[in-house]
Amino acid sequence: MASRIALFNHKGGVSKTTTTFNLGWMLAERGSKVVLADADPQCNLTGMVLGYRGASELEQLYRKEPDRNIRAALSPAFESQPRAVGAVECVEVEGCAGLYLLPGHVGLAEYEVTLGIAQELSGSIQTLQNLPGSLPWVLDRTAEHYDAEFVLIDMSPGLGAINQNLFTTSDFFIVPTNPDFFSVMAIDSLSTVIPRWQDWARRAAENPVLQDAAYPFPKPQARFLGTVVQKFRPRRGTPSAAFAQWIVEIQERIDTLLIPALEQSGMLLDRELYGRCGLEADFTLGVIADFNSLIAASQTHQTPIYALSAEQIGKAGVVLEAAEQSRDEFRSAFEAMAEKVCCLIES
Ligand SMILES: Nc1ncnc2c1ncn2[C@@H]1O[C@H](COP(=O)(O)OP(=O)(O)OP(=O)(O)O)[C@@H](O)[C@H]1O
Ligand SMILES: [Mg+2]
Repeated sequence: MASRIALFNHKGGVSKTTTTFNLGWMLAERGSKVVLADADPQCNLTGMVLGYRGASELEQLYRKEPDRNIRAALSPAFESQPRAVGAVECVEVEGCAGLYLLPGHVGLAEYEVTLGIAQELSGSIQTLQNLPGSLPWVLDRTAEHYDAEFVLIDMSPGLGAINQNLFTTSDFFIVPTNPDFFSVMAIDSLSTVIPRWQDWARRAAENPVLQDAAYPFPKPQARFLGTVVQKFRPRRGTPSAAFAQWIVEIQERIDTLLIPALEQSGMLLDRELYGRCGLEADFTLGVIADFNSLIAASQTHQTPIYALSAEQIGKAGVVLEAAEQSRDEFRSAFEAMAEKVCCLIES
């Protein structure tokens, strides 16, 4: 069975999508089959993989193949169609063998309200019983279809029913953050929201109506893998003073608020495992600098920064040399991140 990993922070713009893409690509490079699931109605991940190749690929996907996305896969449950919820035919990500995209859909947002009602009232309303279990069901069937080891779930910013569902039914989760004040605040609210969600999921998993469903709601077992701090401005390789201060503050909130909350809710792995897998006491999977000028080439070629060739970087001389050095540093950082993730999951 594949490990479903949710990348979640209700704060927007903290590099959830970027981390999903970069980490997923790295896990696939290391030899695993990986499904990138775009569960954000903004469809940024789908855009990142397909969009910049020219609008035609995106347009073709939605116009000619309307069934190849997450919303279409869920529609039998949400629109009471007489067919089963099953695997989605993914898009093979160009340039990386074993990496697949489960495309998102803007219309997934239309299911948010119904799912919210189902998740509140499912004990009493039989017709909604299949909805809460249908999301993890689609991801599992798709992973099975591709023999994937990992499903990385890119989530929208926000605390809606879809996120509540995907988060609590995941096997593991990563919290991406940025070194700024709002990310510090976000850690505070996650520390109260996550335990509430977990309580709900425990009740849902014991609810006989949800157990009886065509897609039973799974027993919650999500475990924290760690955080990623992304987009700091470096000075000689390390974060400059202003960023360093926010990084310290985020780590302090994680330590004093988030970790105790997760521990109380049974959402931590064995404490000593984090140390054994190289996360140290701060639960950090990686601290990633600003991609700076490399971001343009990365977007043009739908390729992670660290996988860009000299040709794709498109510079010469000392500029190219500096860019290549920076690229190789990002490679080391994402290699280390993938290594930690694998270590935590395998142990
Ligand atoms: N390390 C980085 N260096 C420079 N830019 C970055 C870096 N990481 C992410 N970005 C940029 O920051 C913006 C936000 O990143 P991203 O879309 O991954 O965040 P998100 O958390 O998925 O946002 P949302 O909440 O809207 O889904 C994007 O324009 C992305 O290209
Ligand atoms: Mg995103």
